[in-house]
Amino acid sequence: MRAYVARTLPACSPILVCNRAPREPNPDGTFKRGAGGVITALLTLAEATEAEWVACARNDDERQLATGHGAALTVPLLNSTGRLHYAVPTKEQYDMYYGVFANPVLWFIQHYLWDLGNEPVIDDRIHQAWEEGYVEVNRQLAQKVVEVARQAPKRPLVLVHDYQLYLVPGLVRRALPEAMLQHFVHVPWPTPQYWKVLPKPMRDAILEGLLGCDIVGFQSSLDVRNFLLTCEENAGLQVDERERAVFYGGRVVYARHYPISIDVATTSRLAASRGVKRQERDIASWRPPRLISRIDRTDPSKNIVRGFIAYDKLLRYHPELRGEVQFWAFLQPSRQDVAVYSRYVRQIRQIVGRINSEFGTEAWLPVRLEIGESERKAVASLKNFDVLLVNPVYDGLNLVVKEGALVNVTNGVIVLSENAGAHEELHAHVLSINPFDVEATAAALYAGLTMVLEDRRRLNEGAREVVRSNDITRWISRQVQDLRDLVMAPVRV
Ligand code: G6P
Repeated sequence: MRAYVARTLPACSPILVCNRAPREPNPDGTFKRGAGGVITALLTLAEATEAEWVACARNDDERQLATGHGAALTVPLLNSTGRLHYAVPTKEQYDMYYGVFANPVLWFIQHYLWDLGNEPVIDDRIHQAWEEGYVEVNRQLAQKVVEVARQAPKRPLVLVHDYQLYLVPGLVRRALPEAMLQHFVHVPWPTPQYWKVLPKPMRDAILEGLLGCDIVGFQSSLDVRNFLLTCEENAGLQVDERERAVFYGGRVVYARHYPISIDVATTSRLAASRGVKRQERDIASWRPPRLISRIDRTDPSKNIVRGFIAYDKLLRYHPELRGEVQFWAFLQPSRQDVAVYSRYVRQIRQIVGRINSEFGTEAWLPVRLEIGESERKAVASLKNFDVLLVNPVYDGLNLVVKEGALVNVTNGVIVLSENAGAHEELHAHVLSINPFDVEATAAALYAGLTMVLEDRRRLNEGAREVVRSNDITRWISRQVQDLRDLVMAPVRV
């Protein structure tokens, strides 16, 4: 992959920009992997492009590490090391940027999560978090990028990631007009109407920031269409829908979709590892005949509570399944310093408690809820499900479903929300659901649990083939090709 990138983009110095660093410091000076599937994908990207990595120091450990090292830090990536540069906002700035603005305001807009009759109330706290948090931290990251780019031997190629950093491309463009800039939006891009939840100065600044790019990347074709519409409707810009391009400030900005994926070889190796097999032995010691699994961060966008409502219905409508089935939810704690996220964990515990006390017996626990982090346990669960429930309200892509499709060995069936980005690629090989319709979800769980082996095998193999043929290297190579064709050597007509 490295050789391919170097051949395709010979004349540039890549810089990857992301809120999170590739590795987080342990107190003893060693590093652990940054959390989440996105970081895993970005580690592959950083390694393939040999990019310098610019991130935000997010907590005391990182602030200390960053201020102790004036220059770049060398950190382990996957098979090599990389250079990491931190921007260091104060704790107050970071909290406003991350805890008040990016999550929840932006995250909630991009996943259509607001209960608009009541929320959000955009008051002085949110205005302050925008000005002194989001704008300020984006400015600091952009400044760090410019410093790194000015030291770079070749033309900088700046690859910015996700909703935390929408303003960075515009700021970098102003300082470095010759830079090549791409932003990849990992989350859904909602309709122009929904963006109007944000006051005009904020949503205009977000678009202006993104339009500093040469290419804006998204997860699905619908995101691209919504983005073009937003530019047209909300900012009055000229858009070419056929070329999927926006004309802005005398430049052309392309919008493209590149559904992210997993590293098939690494994930398969992990699935075959001793650590995962140990977890599987443990599962075999307690699993009932039928197992429904879910693996998610404890995020309201993942729709965990409605998943349990659907399961409750399944047990009511099909009493013959009681004692036969278990719903194993292995959930990773997420953003617990943001009130709405900690409240969500309480709601999850509440409904699980209710189902278990209503249906449970001495010999049977209907829901097994585990909140914790273990990559091995997650993969072991994905190898062994009969049904995997992935029912997000909206989701940029959802990598769990791709991991599940690849590693499952029990001819398991995937029940997938039509609002997950991955649905565009996988719809023919899953049972599709409307994530709000708990009746349809209960029916899909039942259909998955009772499907004949031949049909399960057909779905399972089809889903696996989709993931195999669109692995993470393809995500990278398609972006690299577009950068070469549209930005480095554009065809003039
Ligand atoms: C999602 C976002 C990523 C984010 C990840 C973990 O996948 O798209 O940008 O890094 O969640 O969230 P966290 O807030 O813990 O970084």
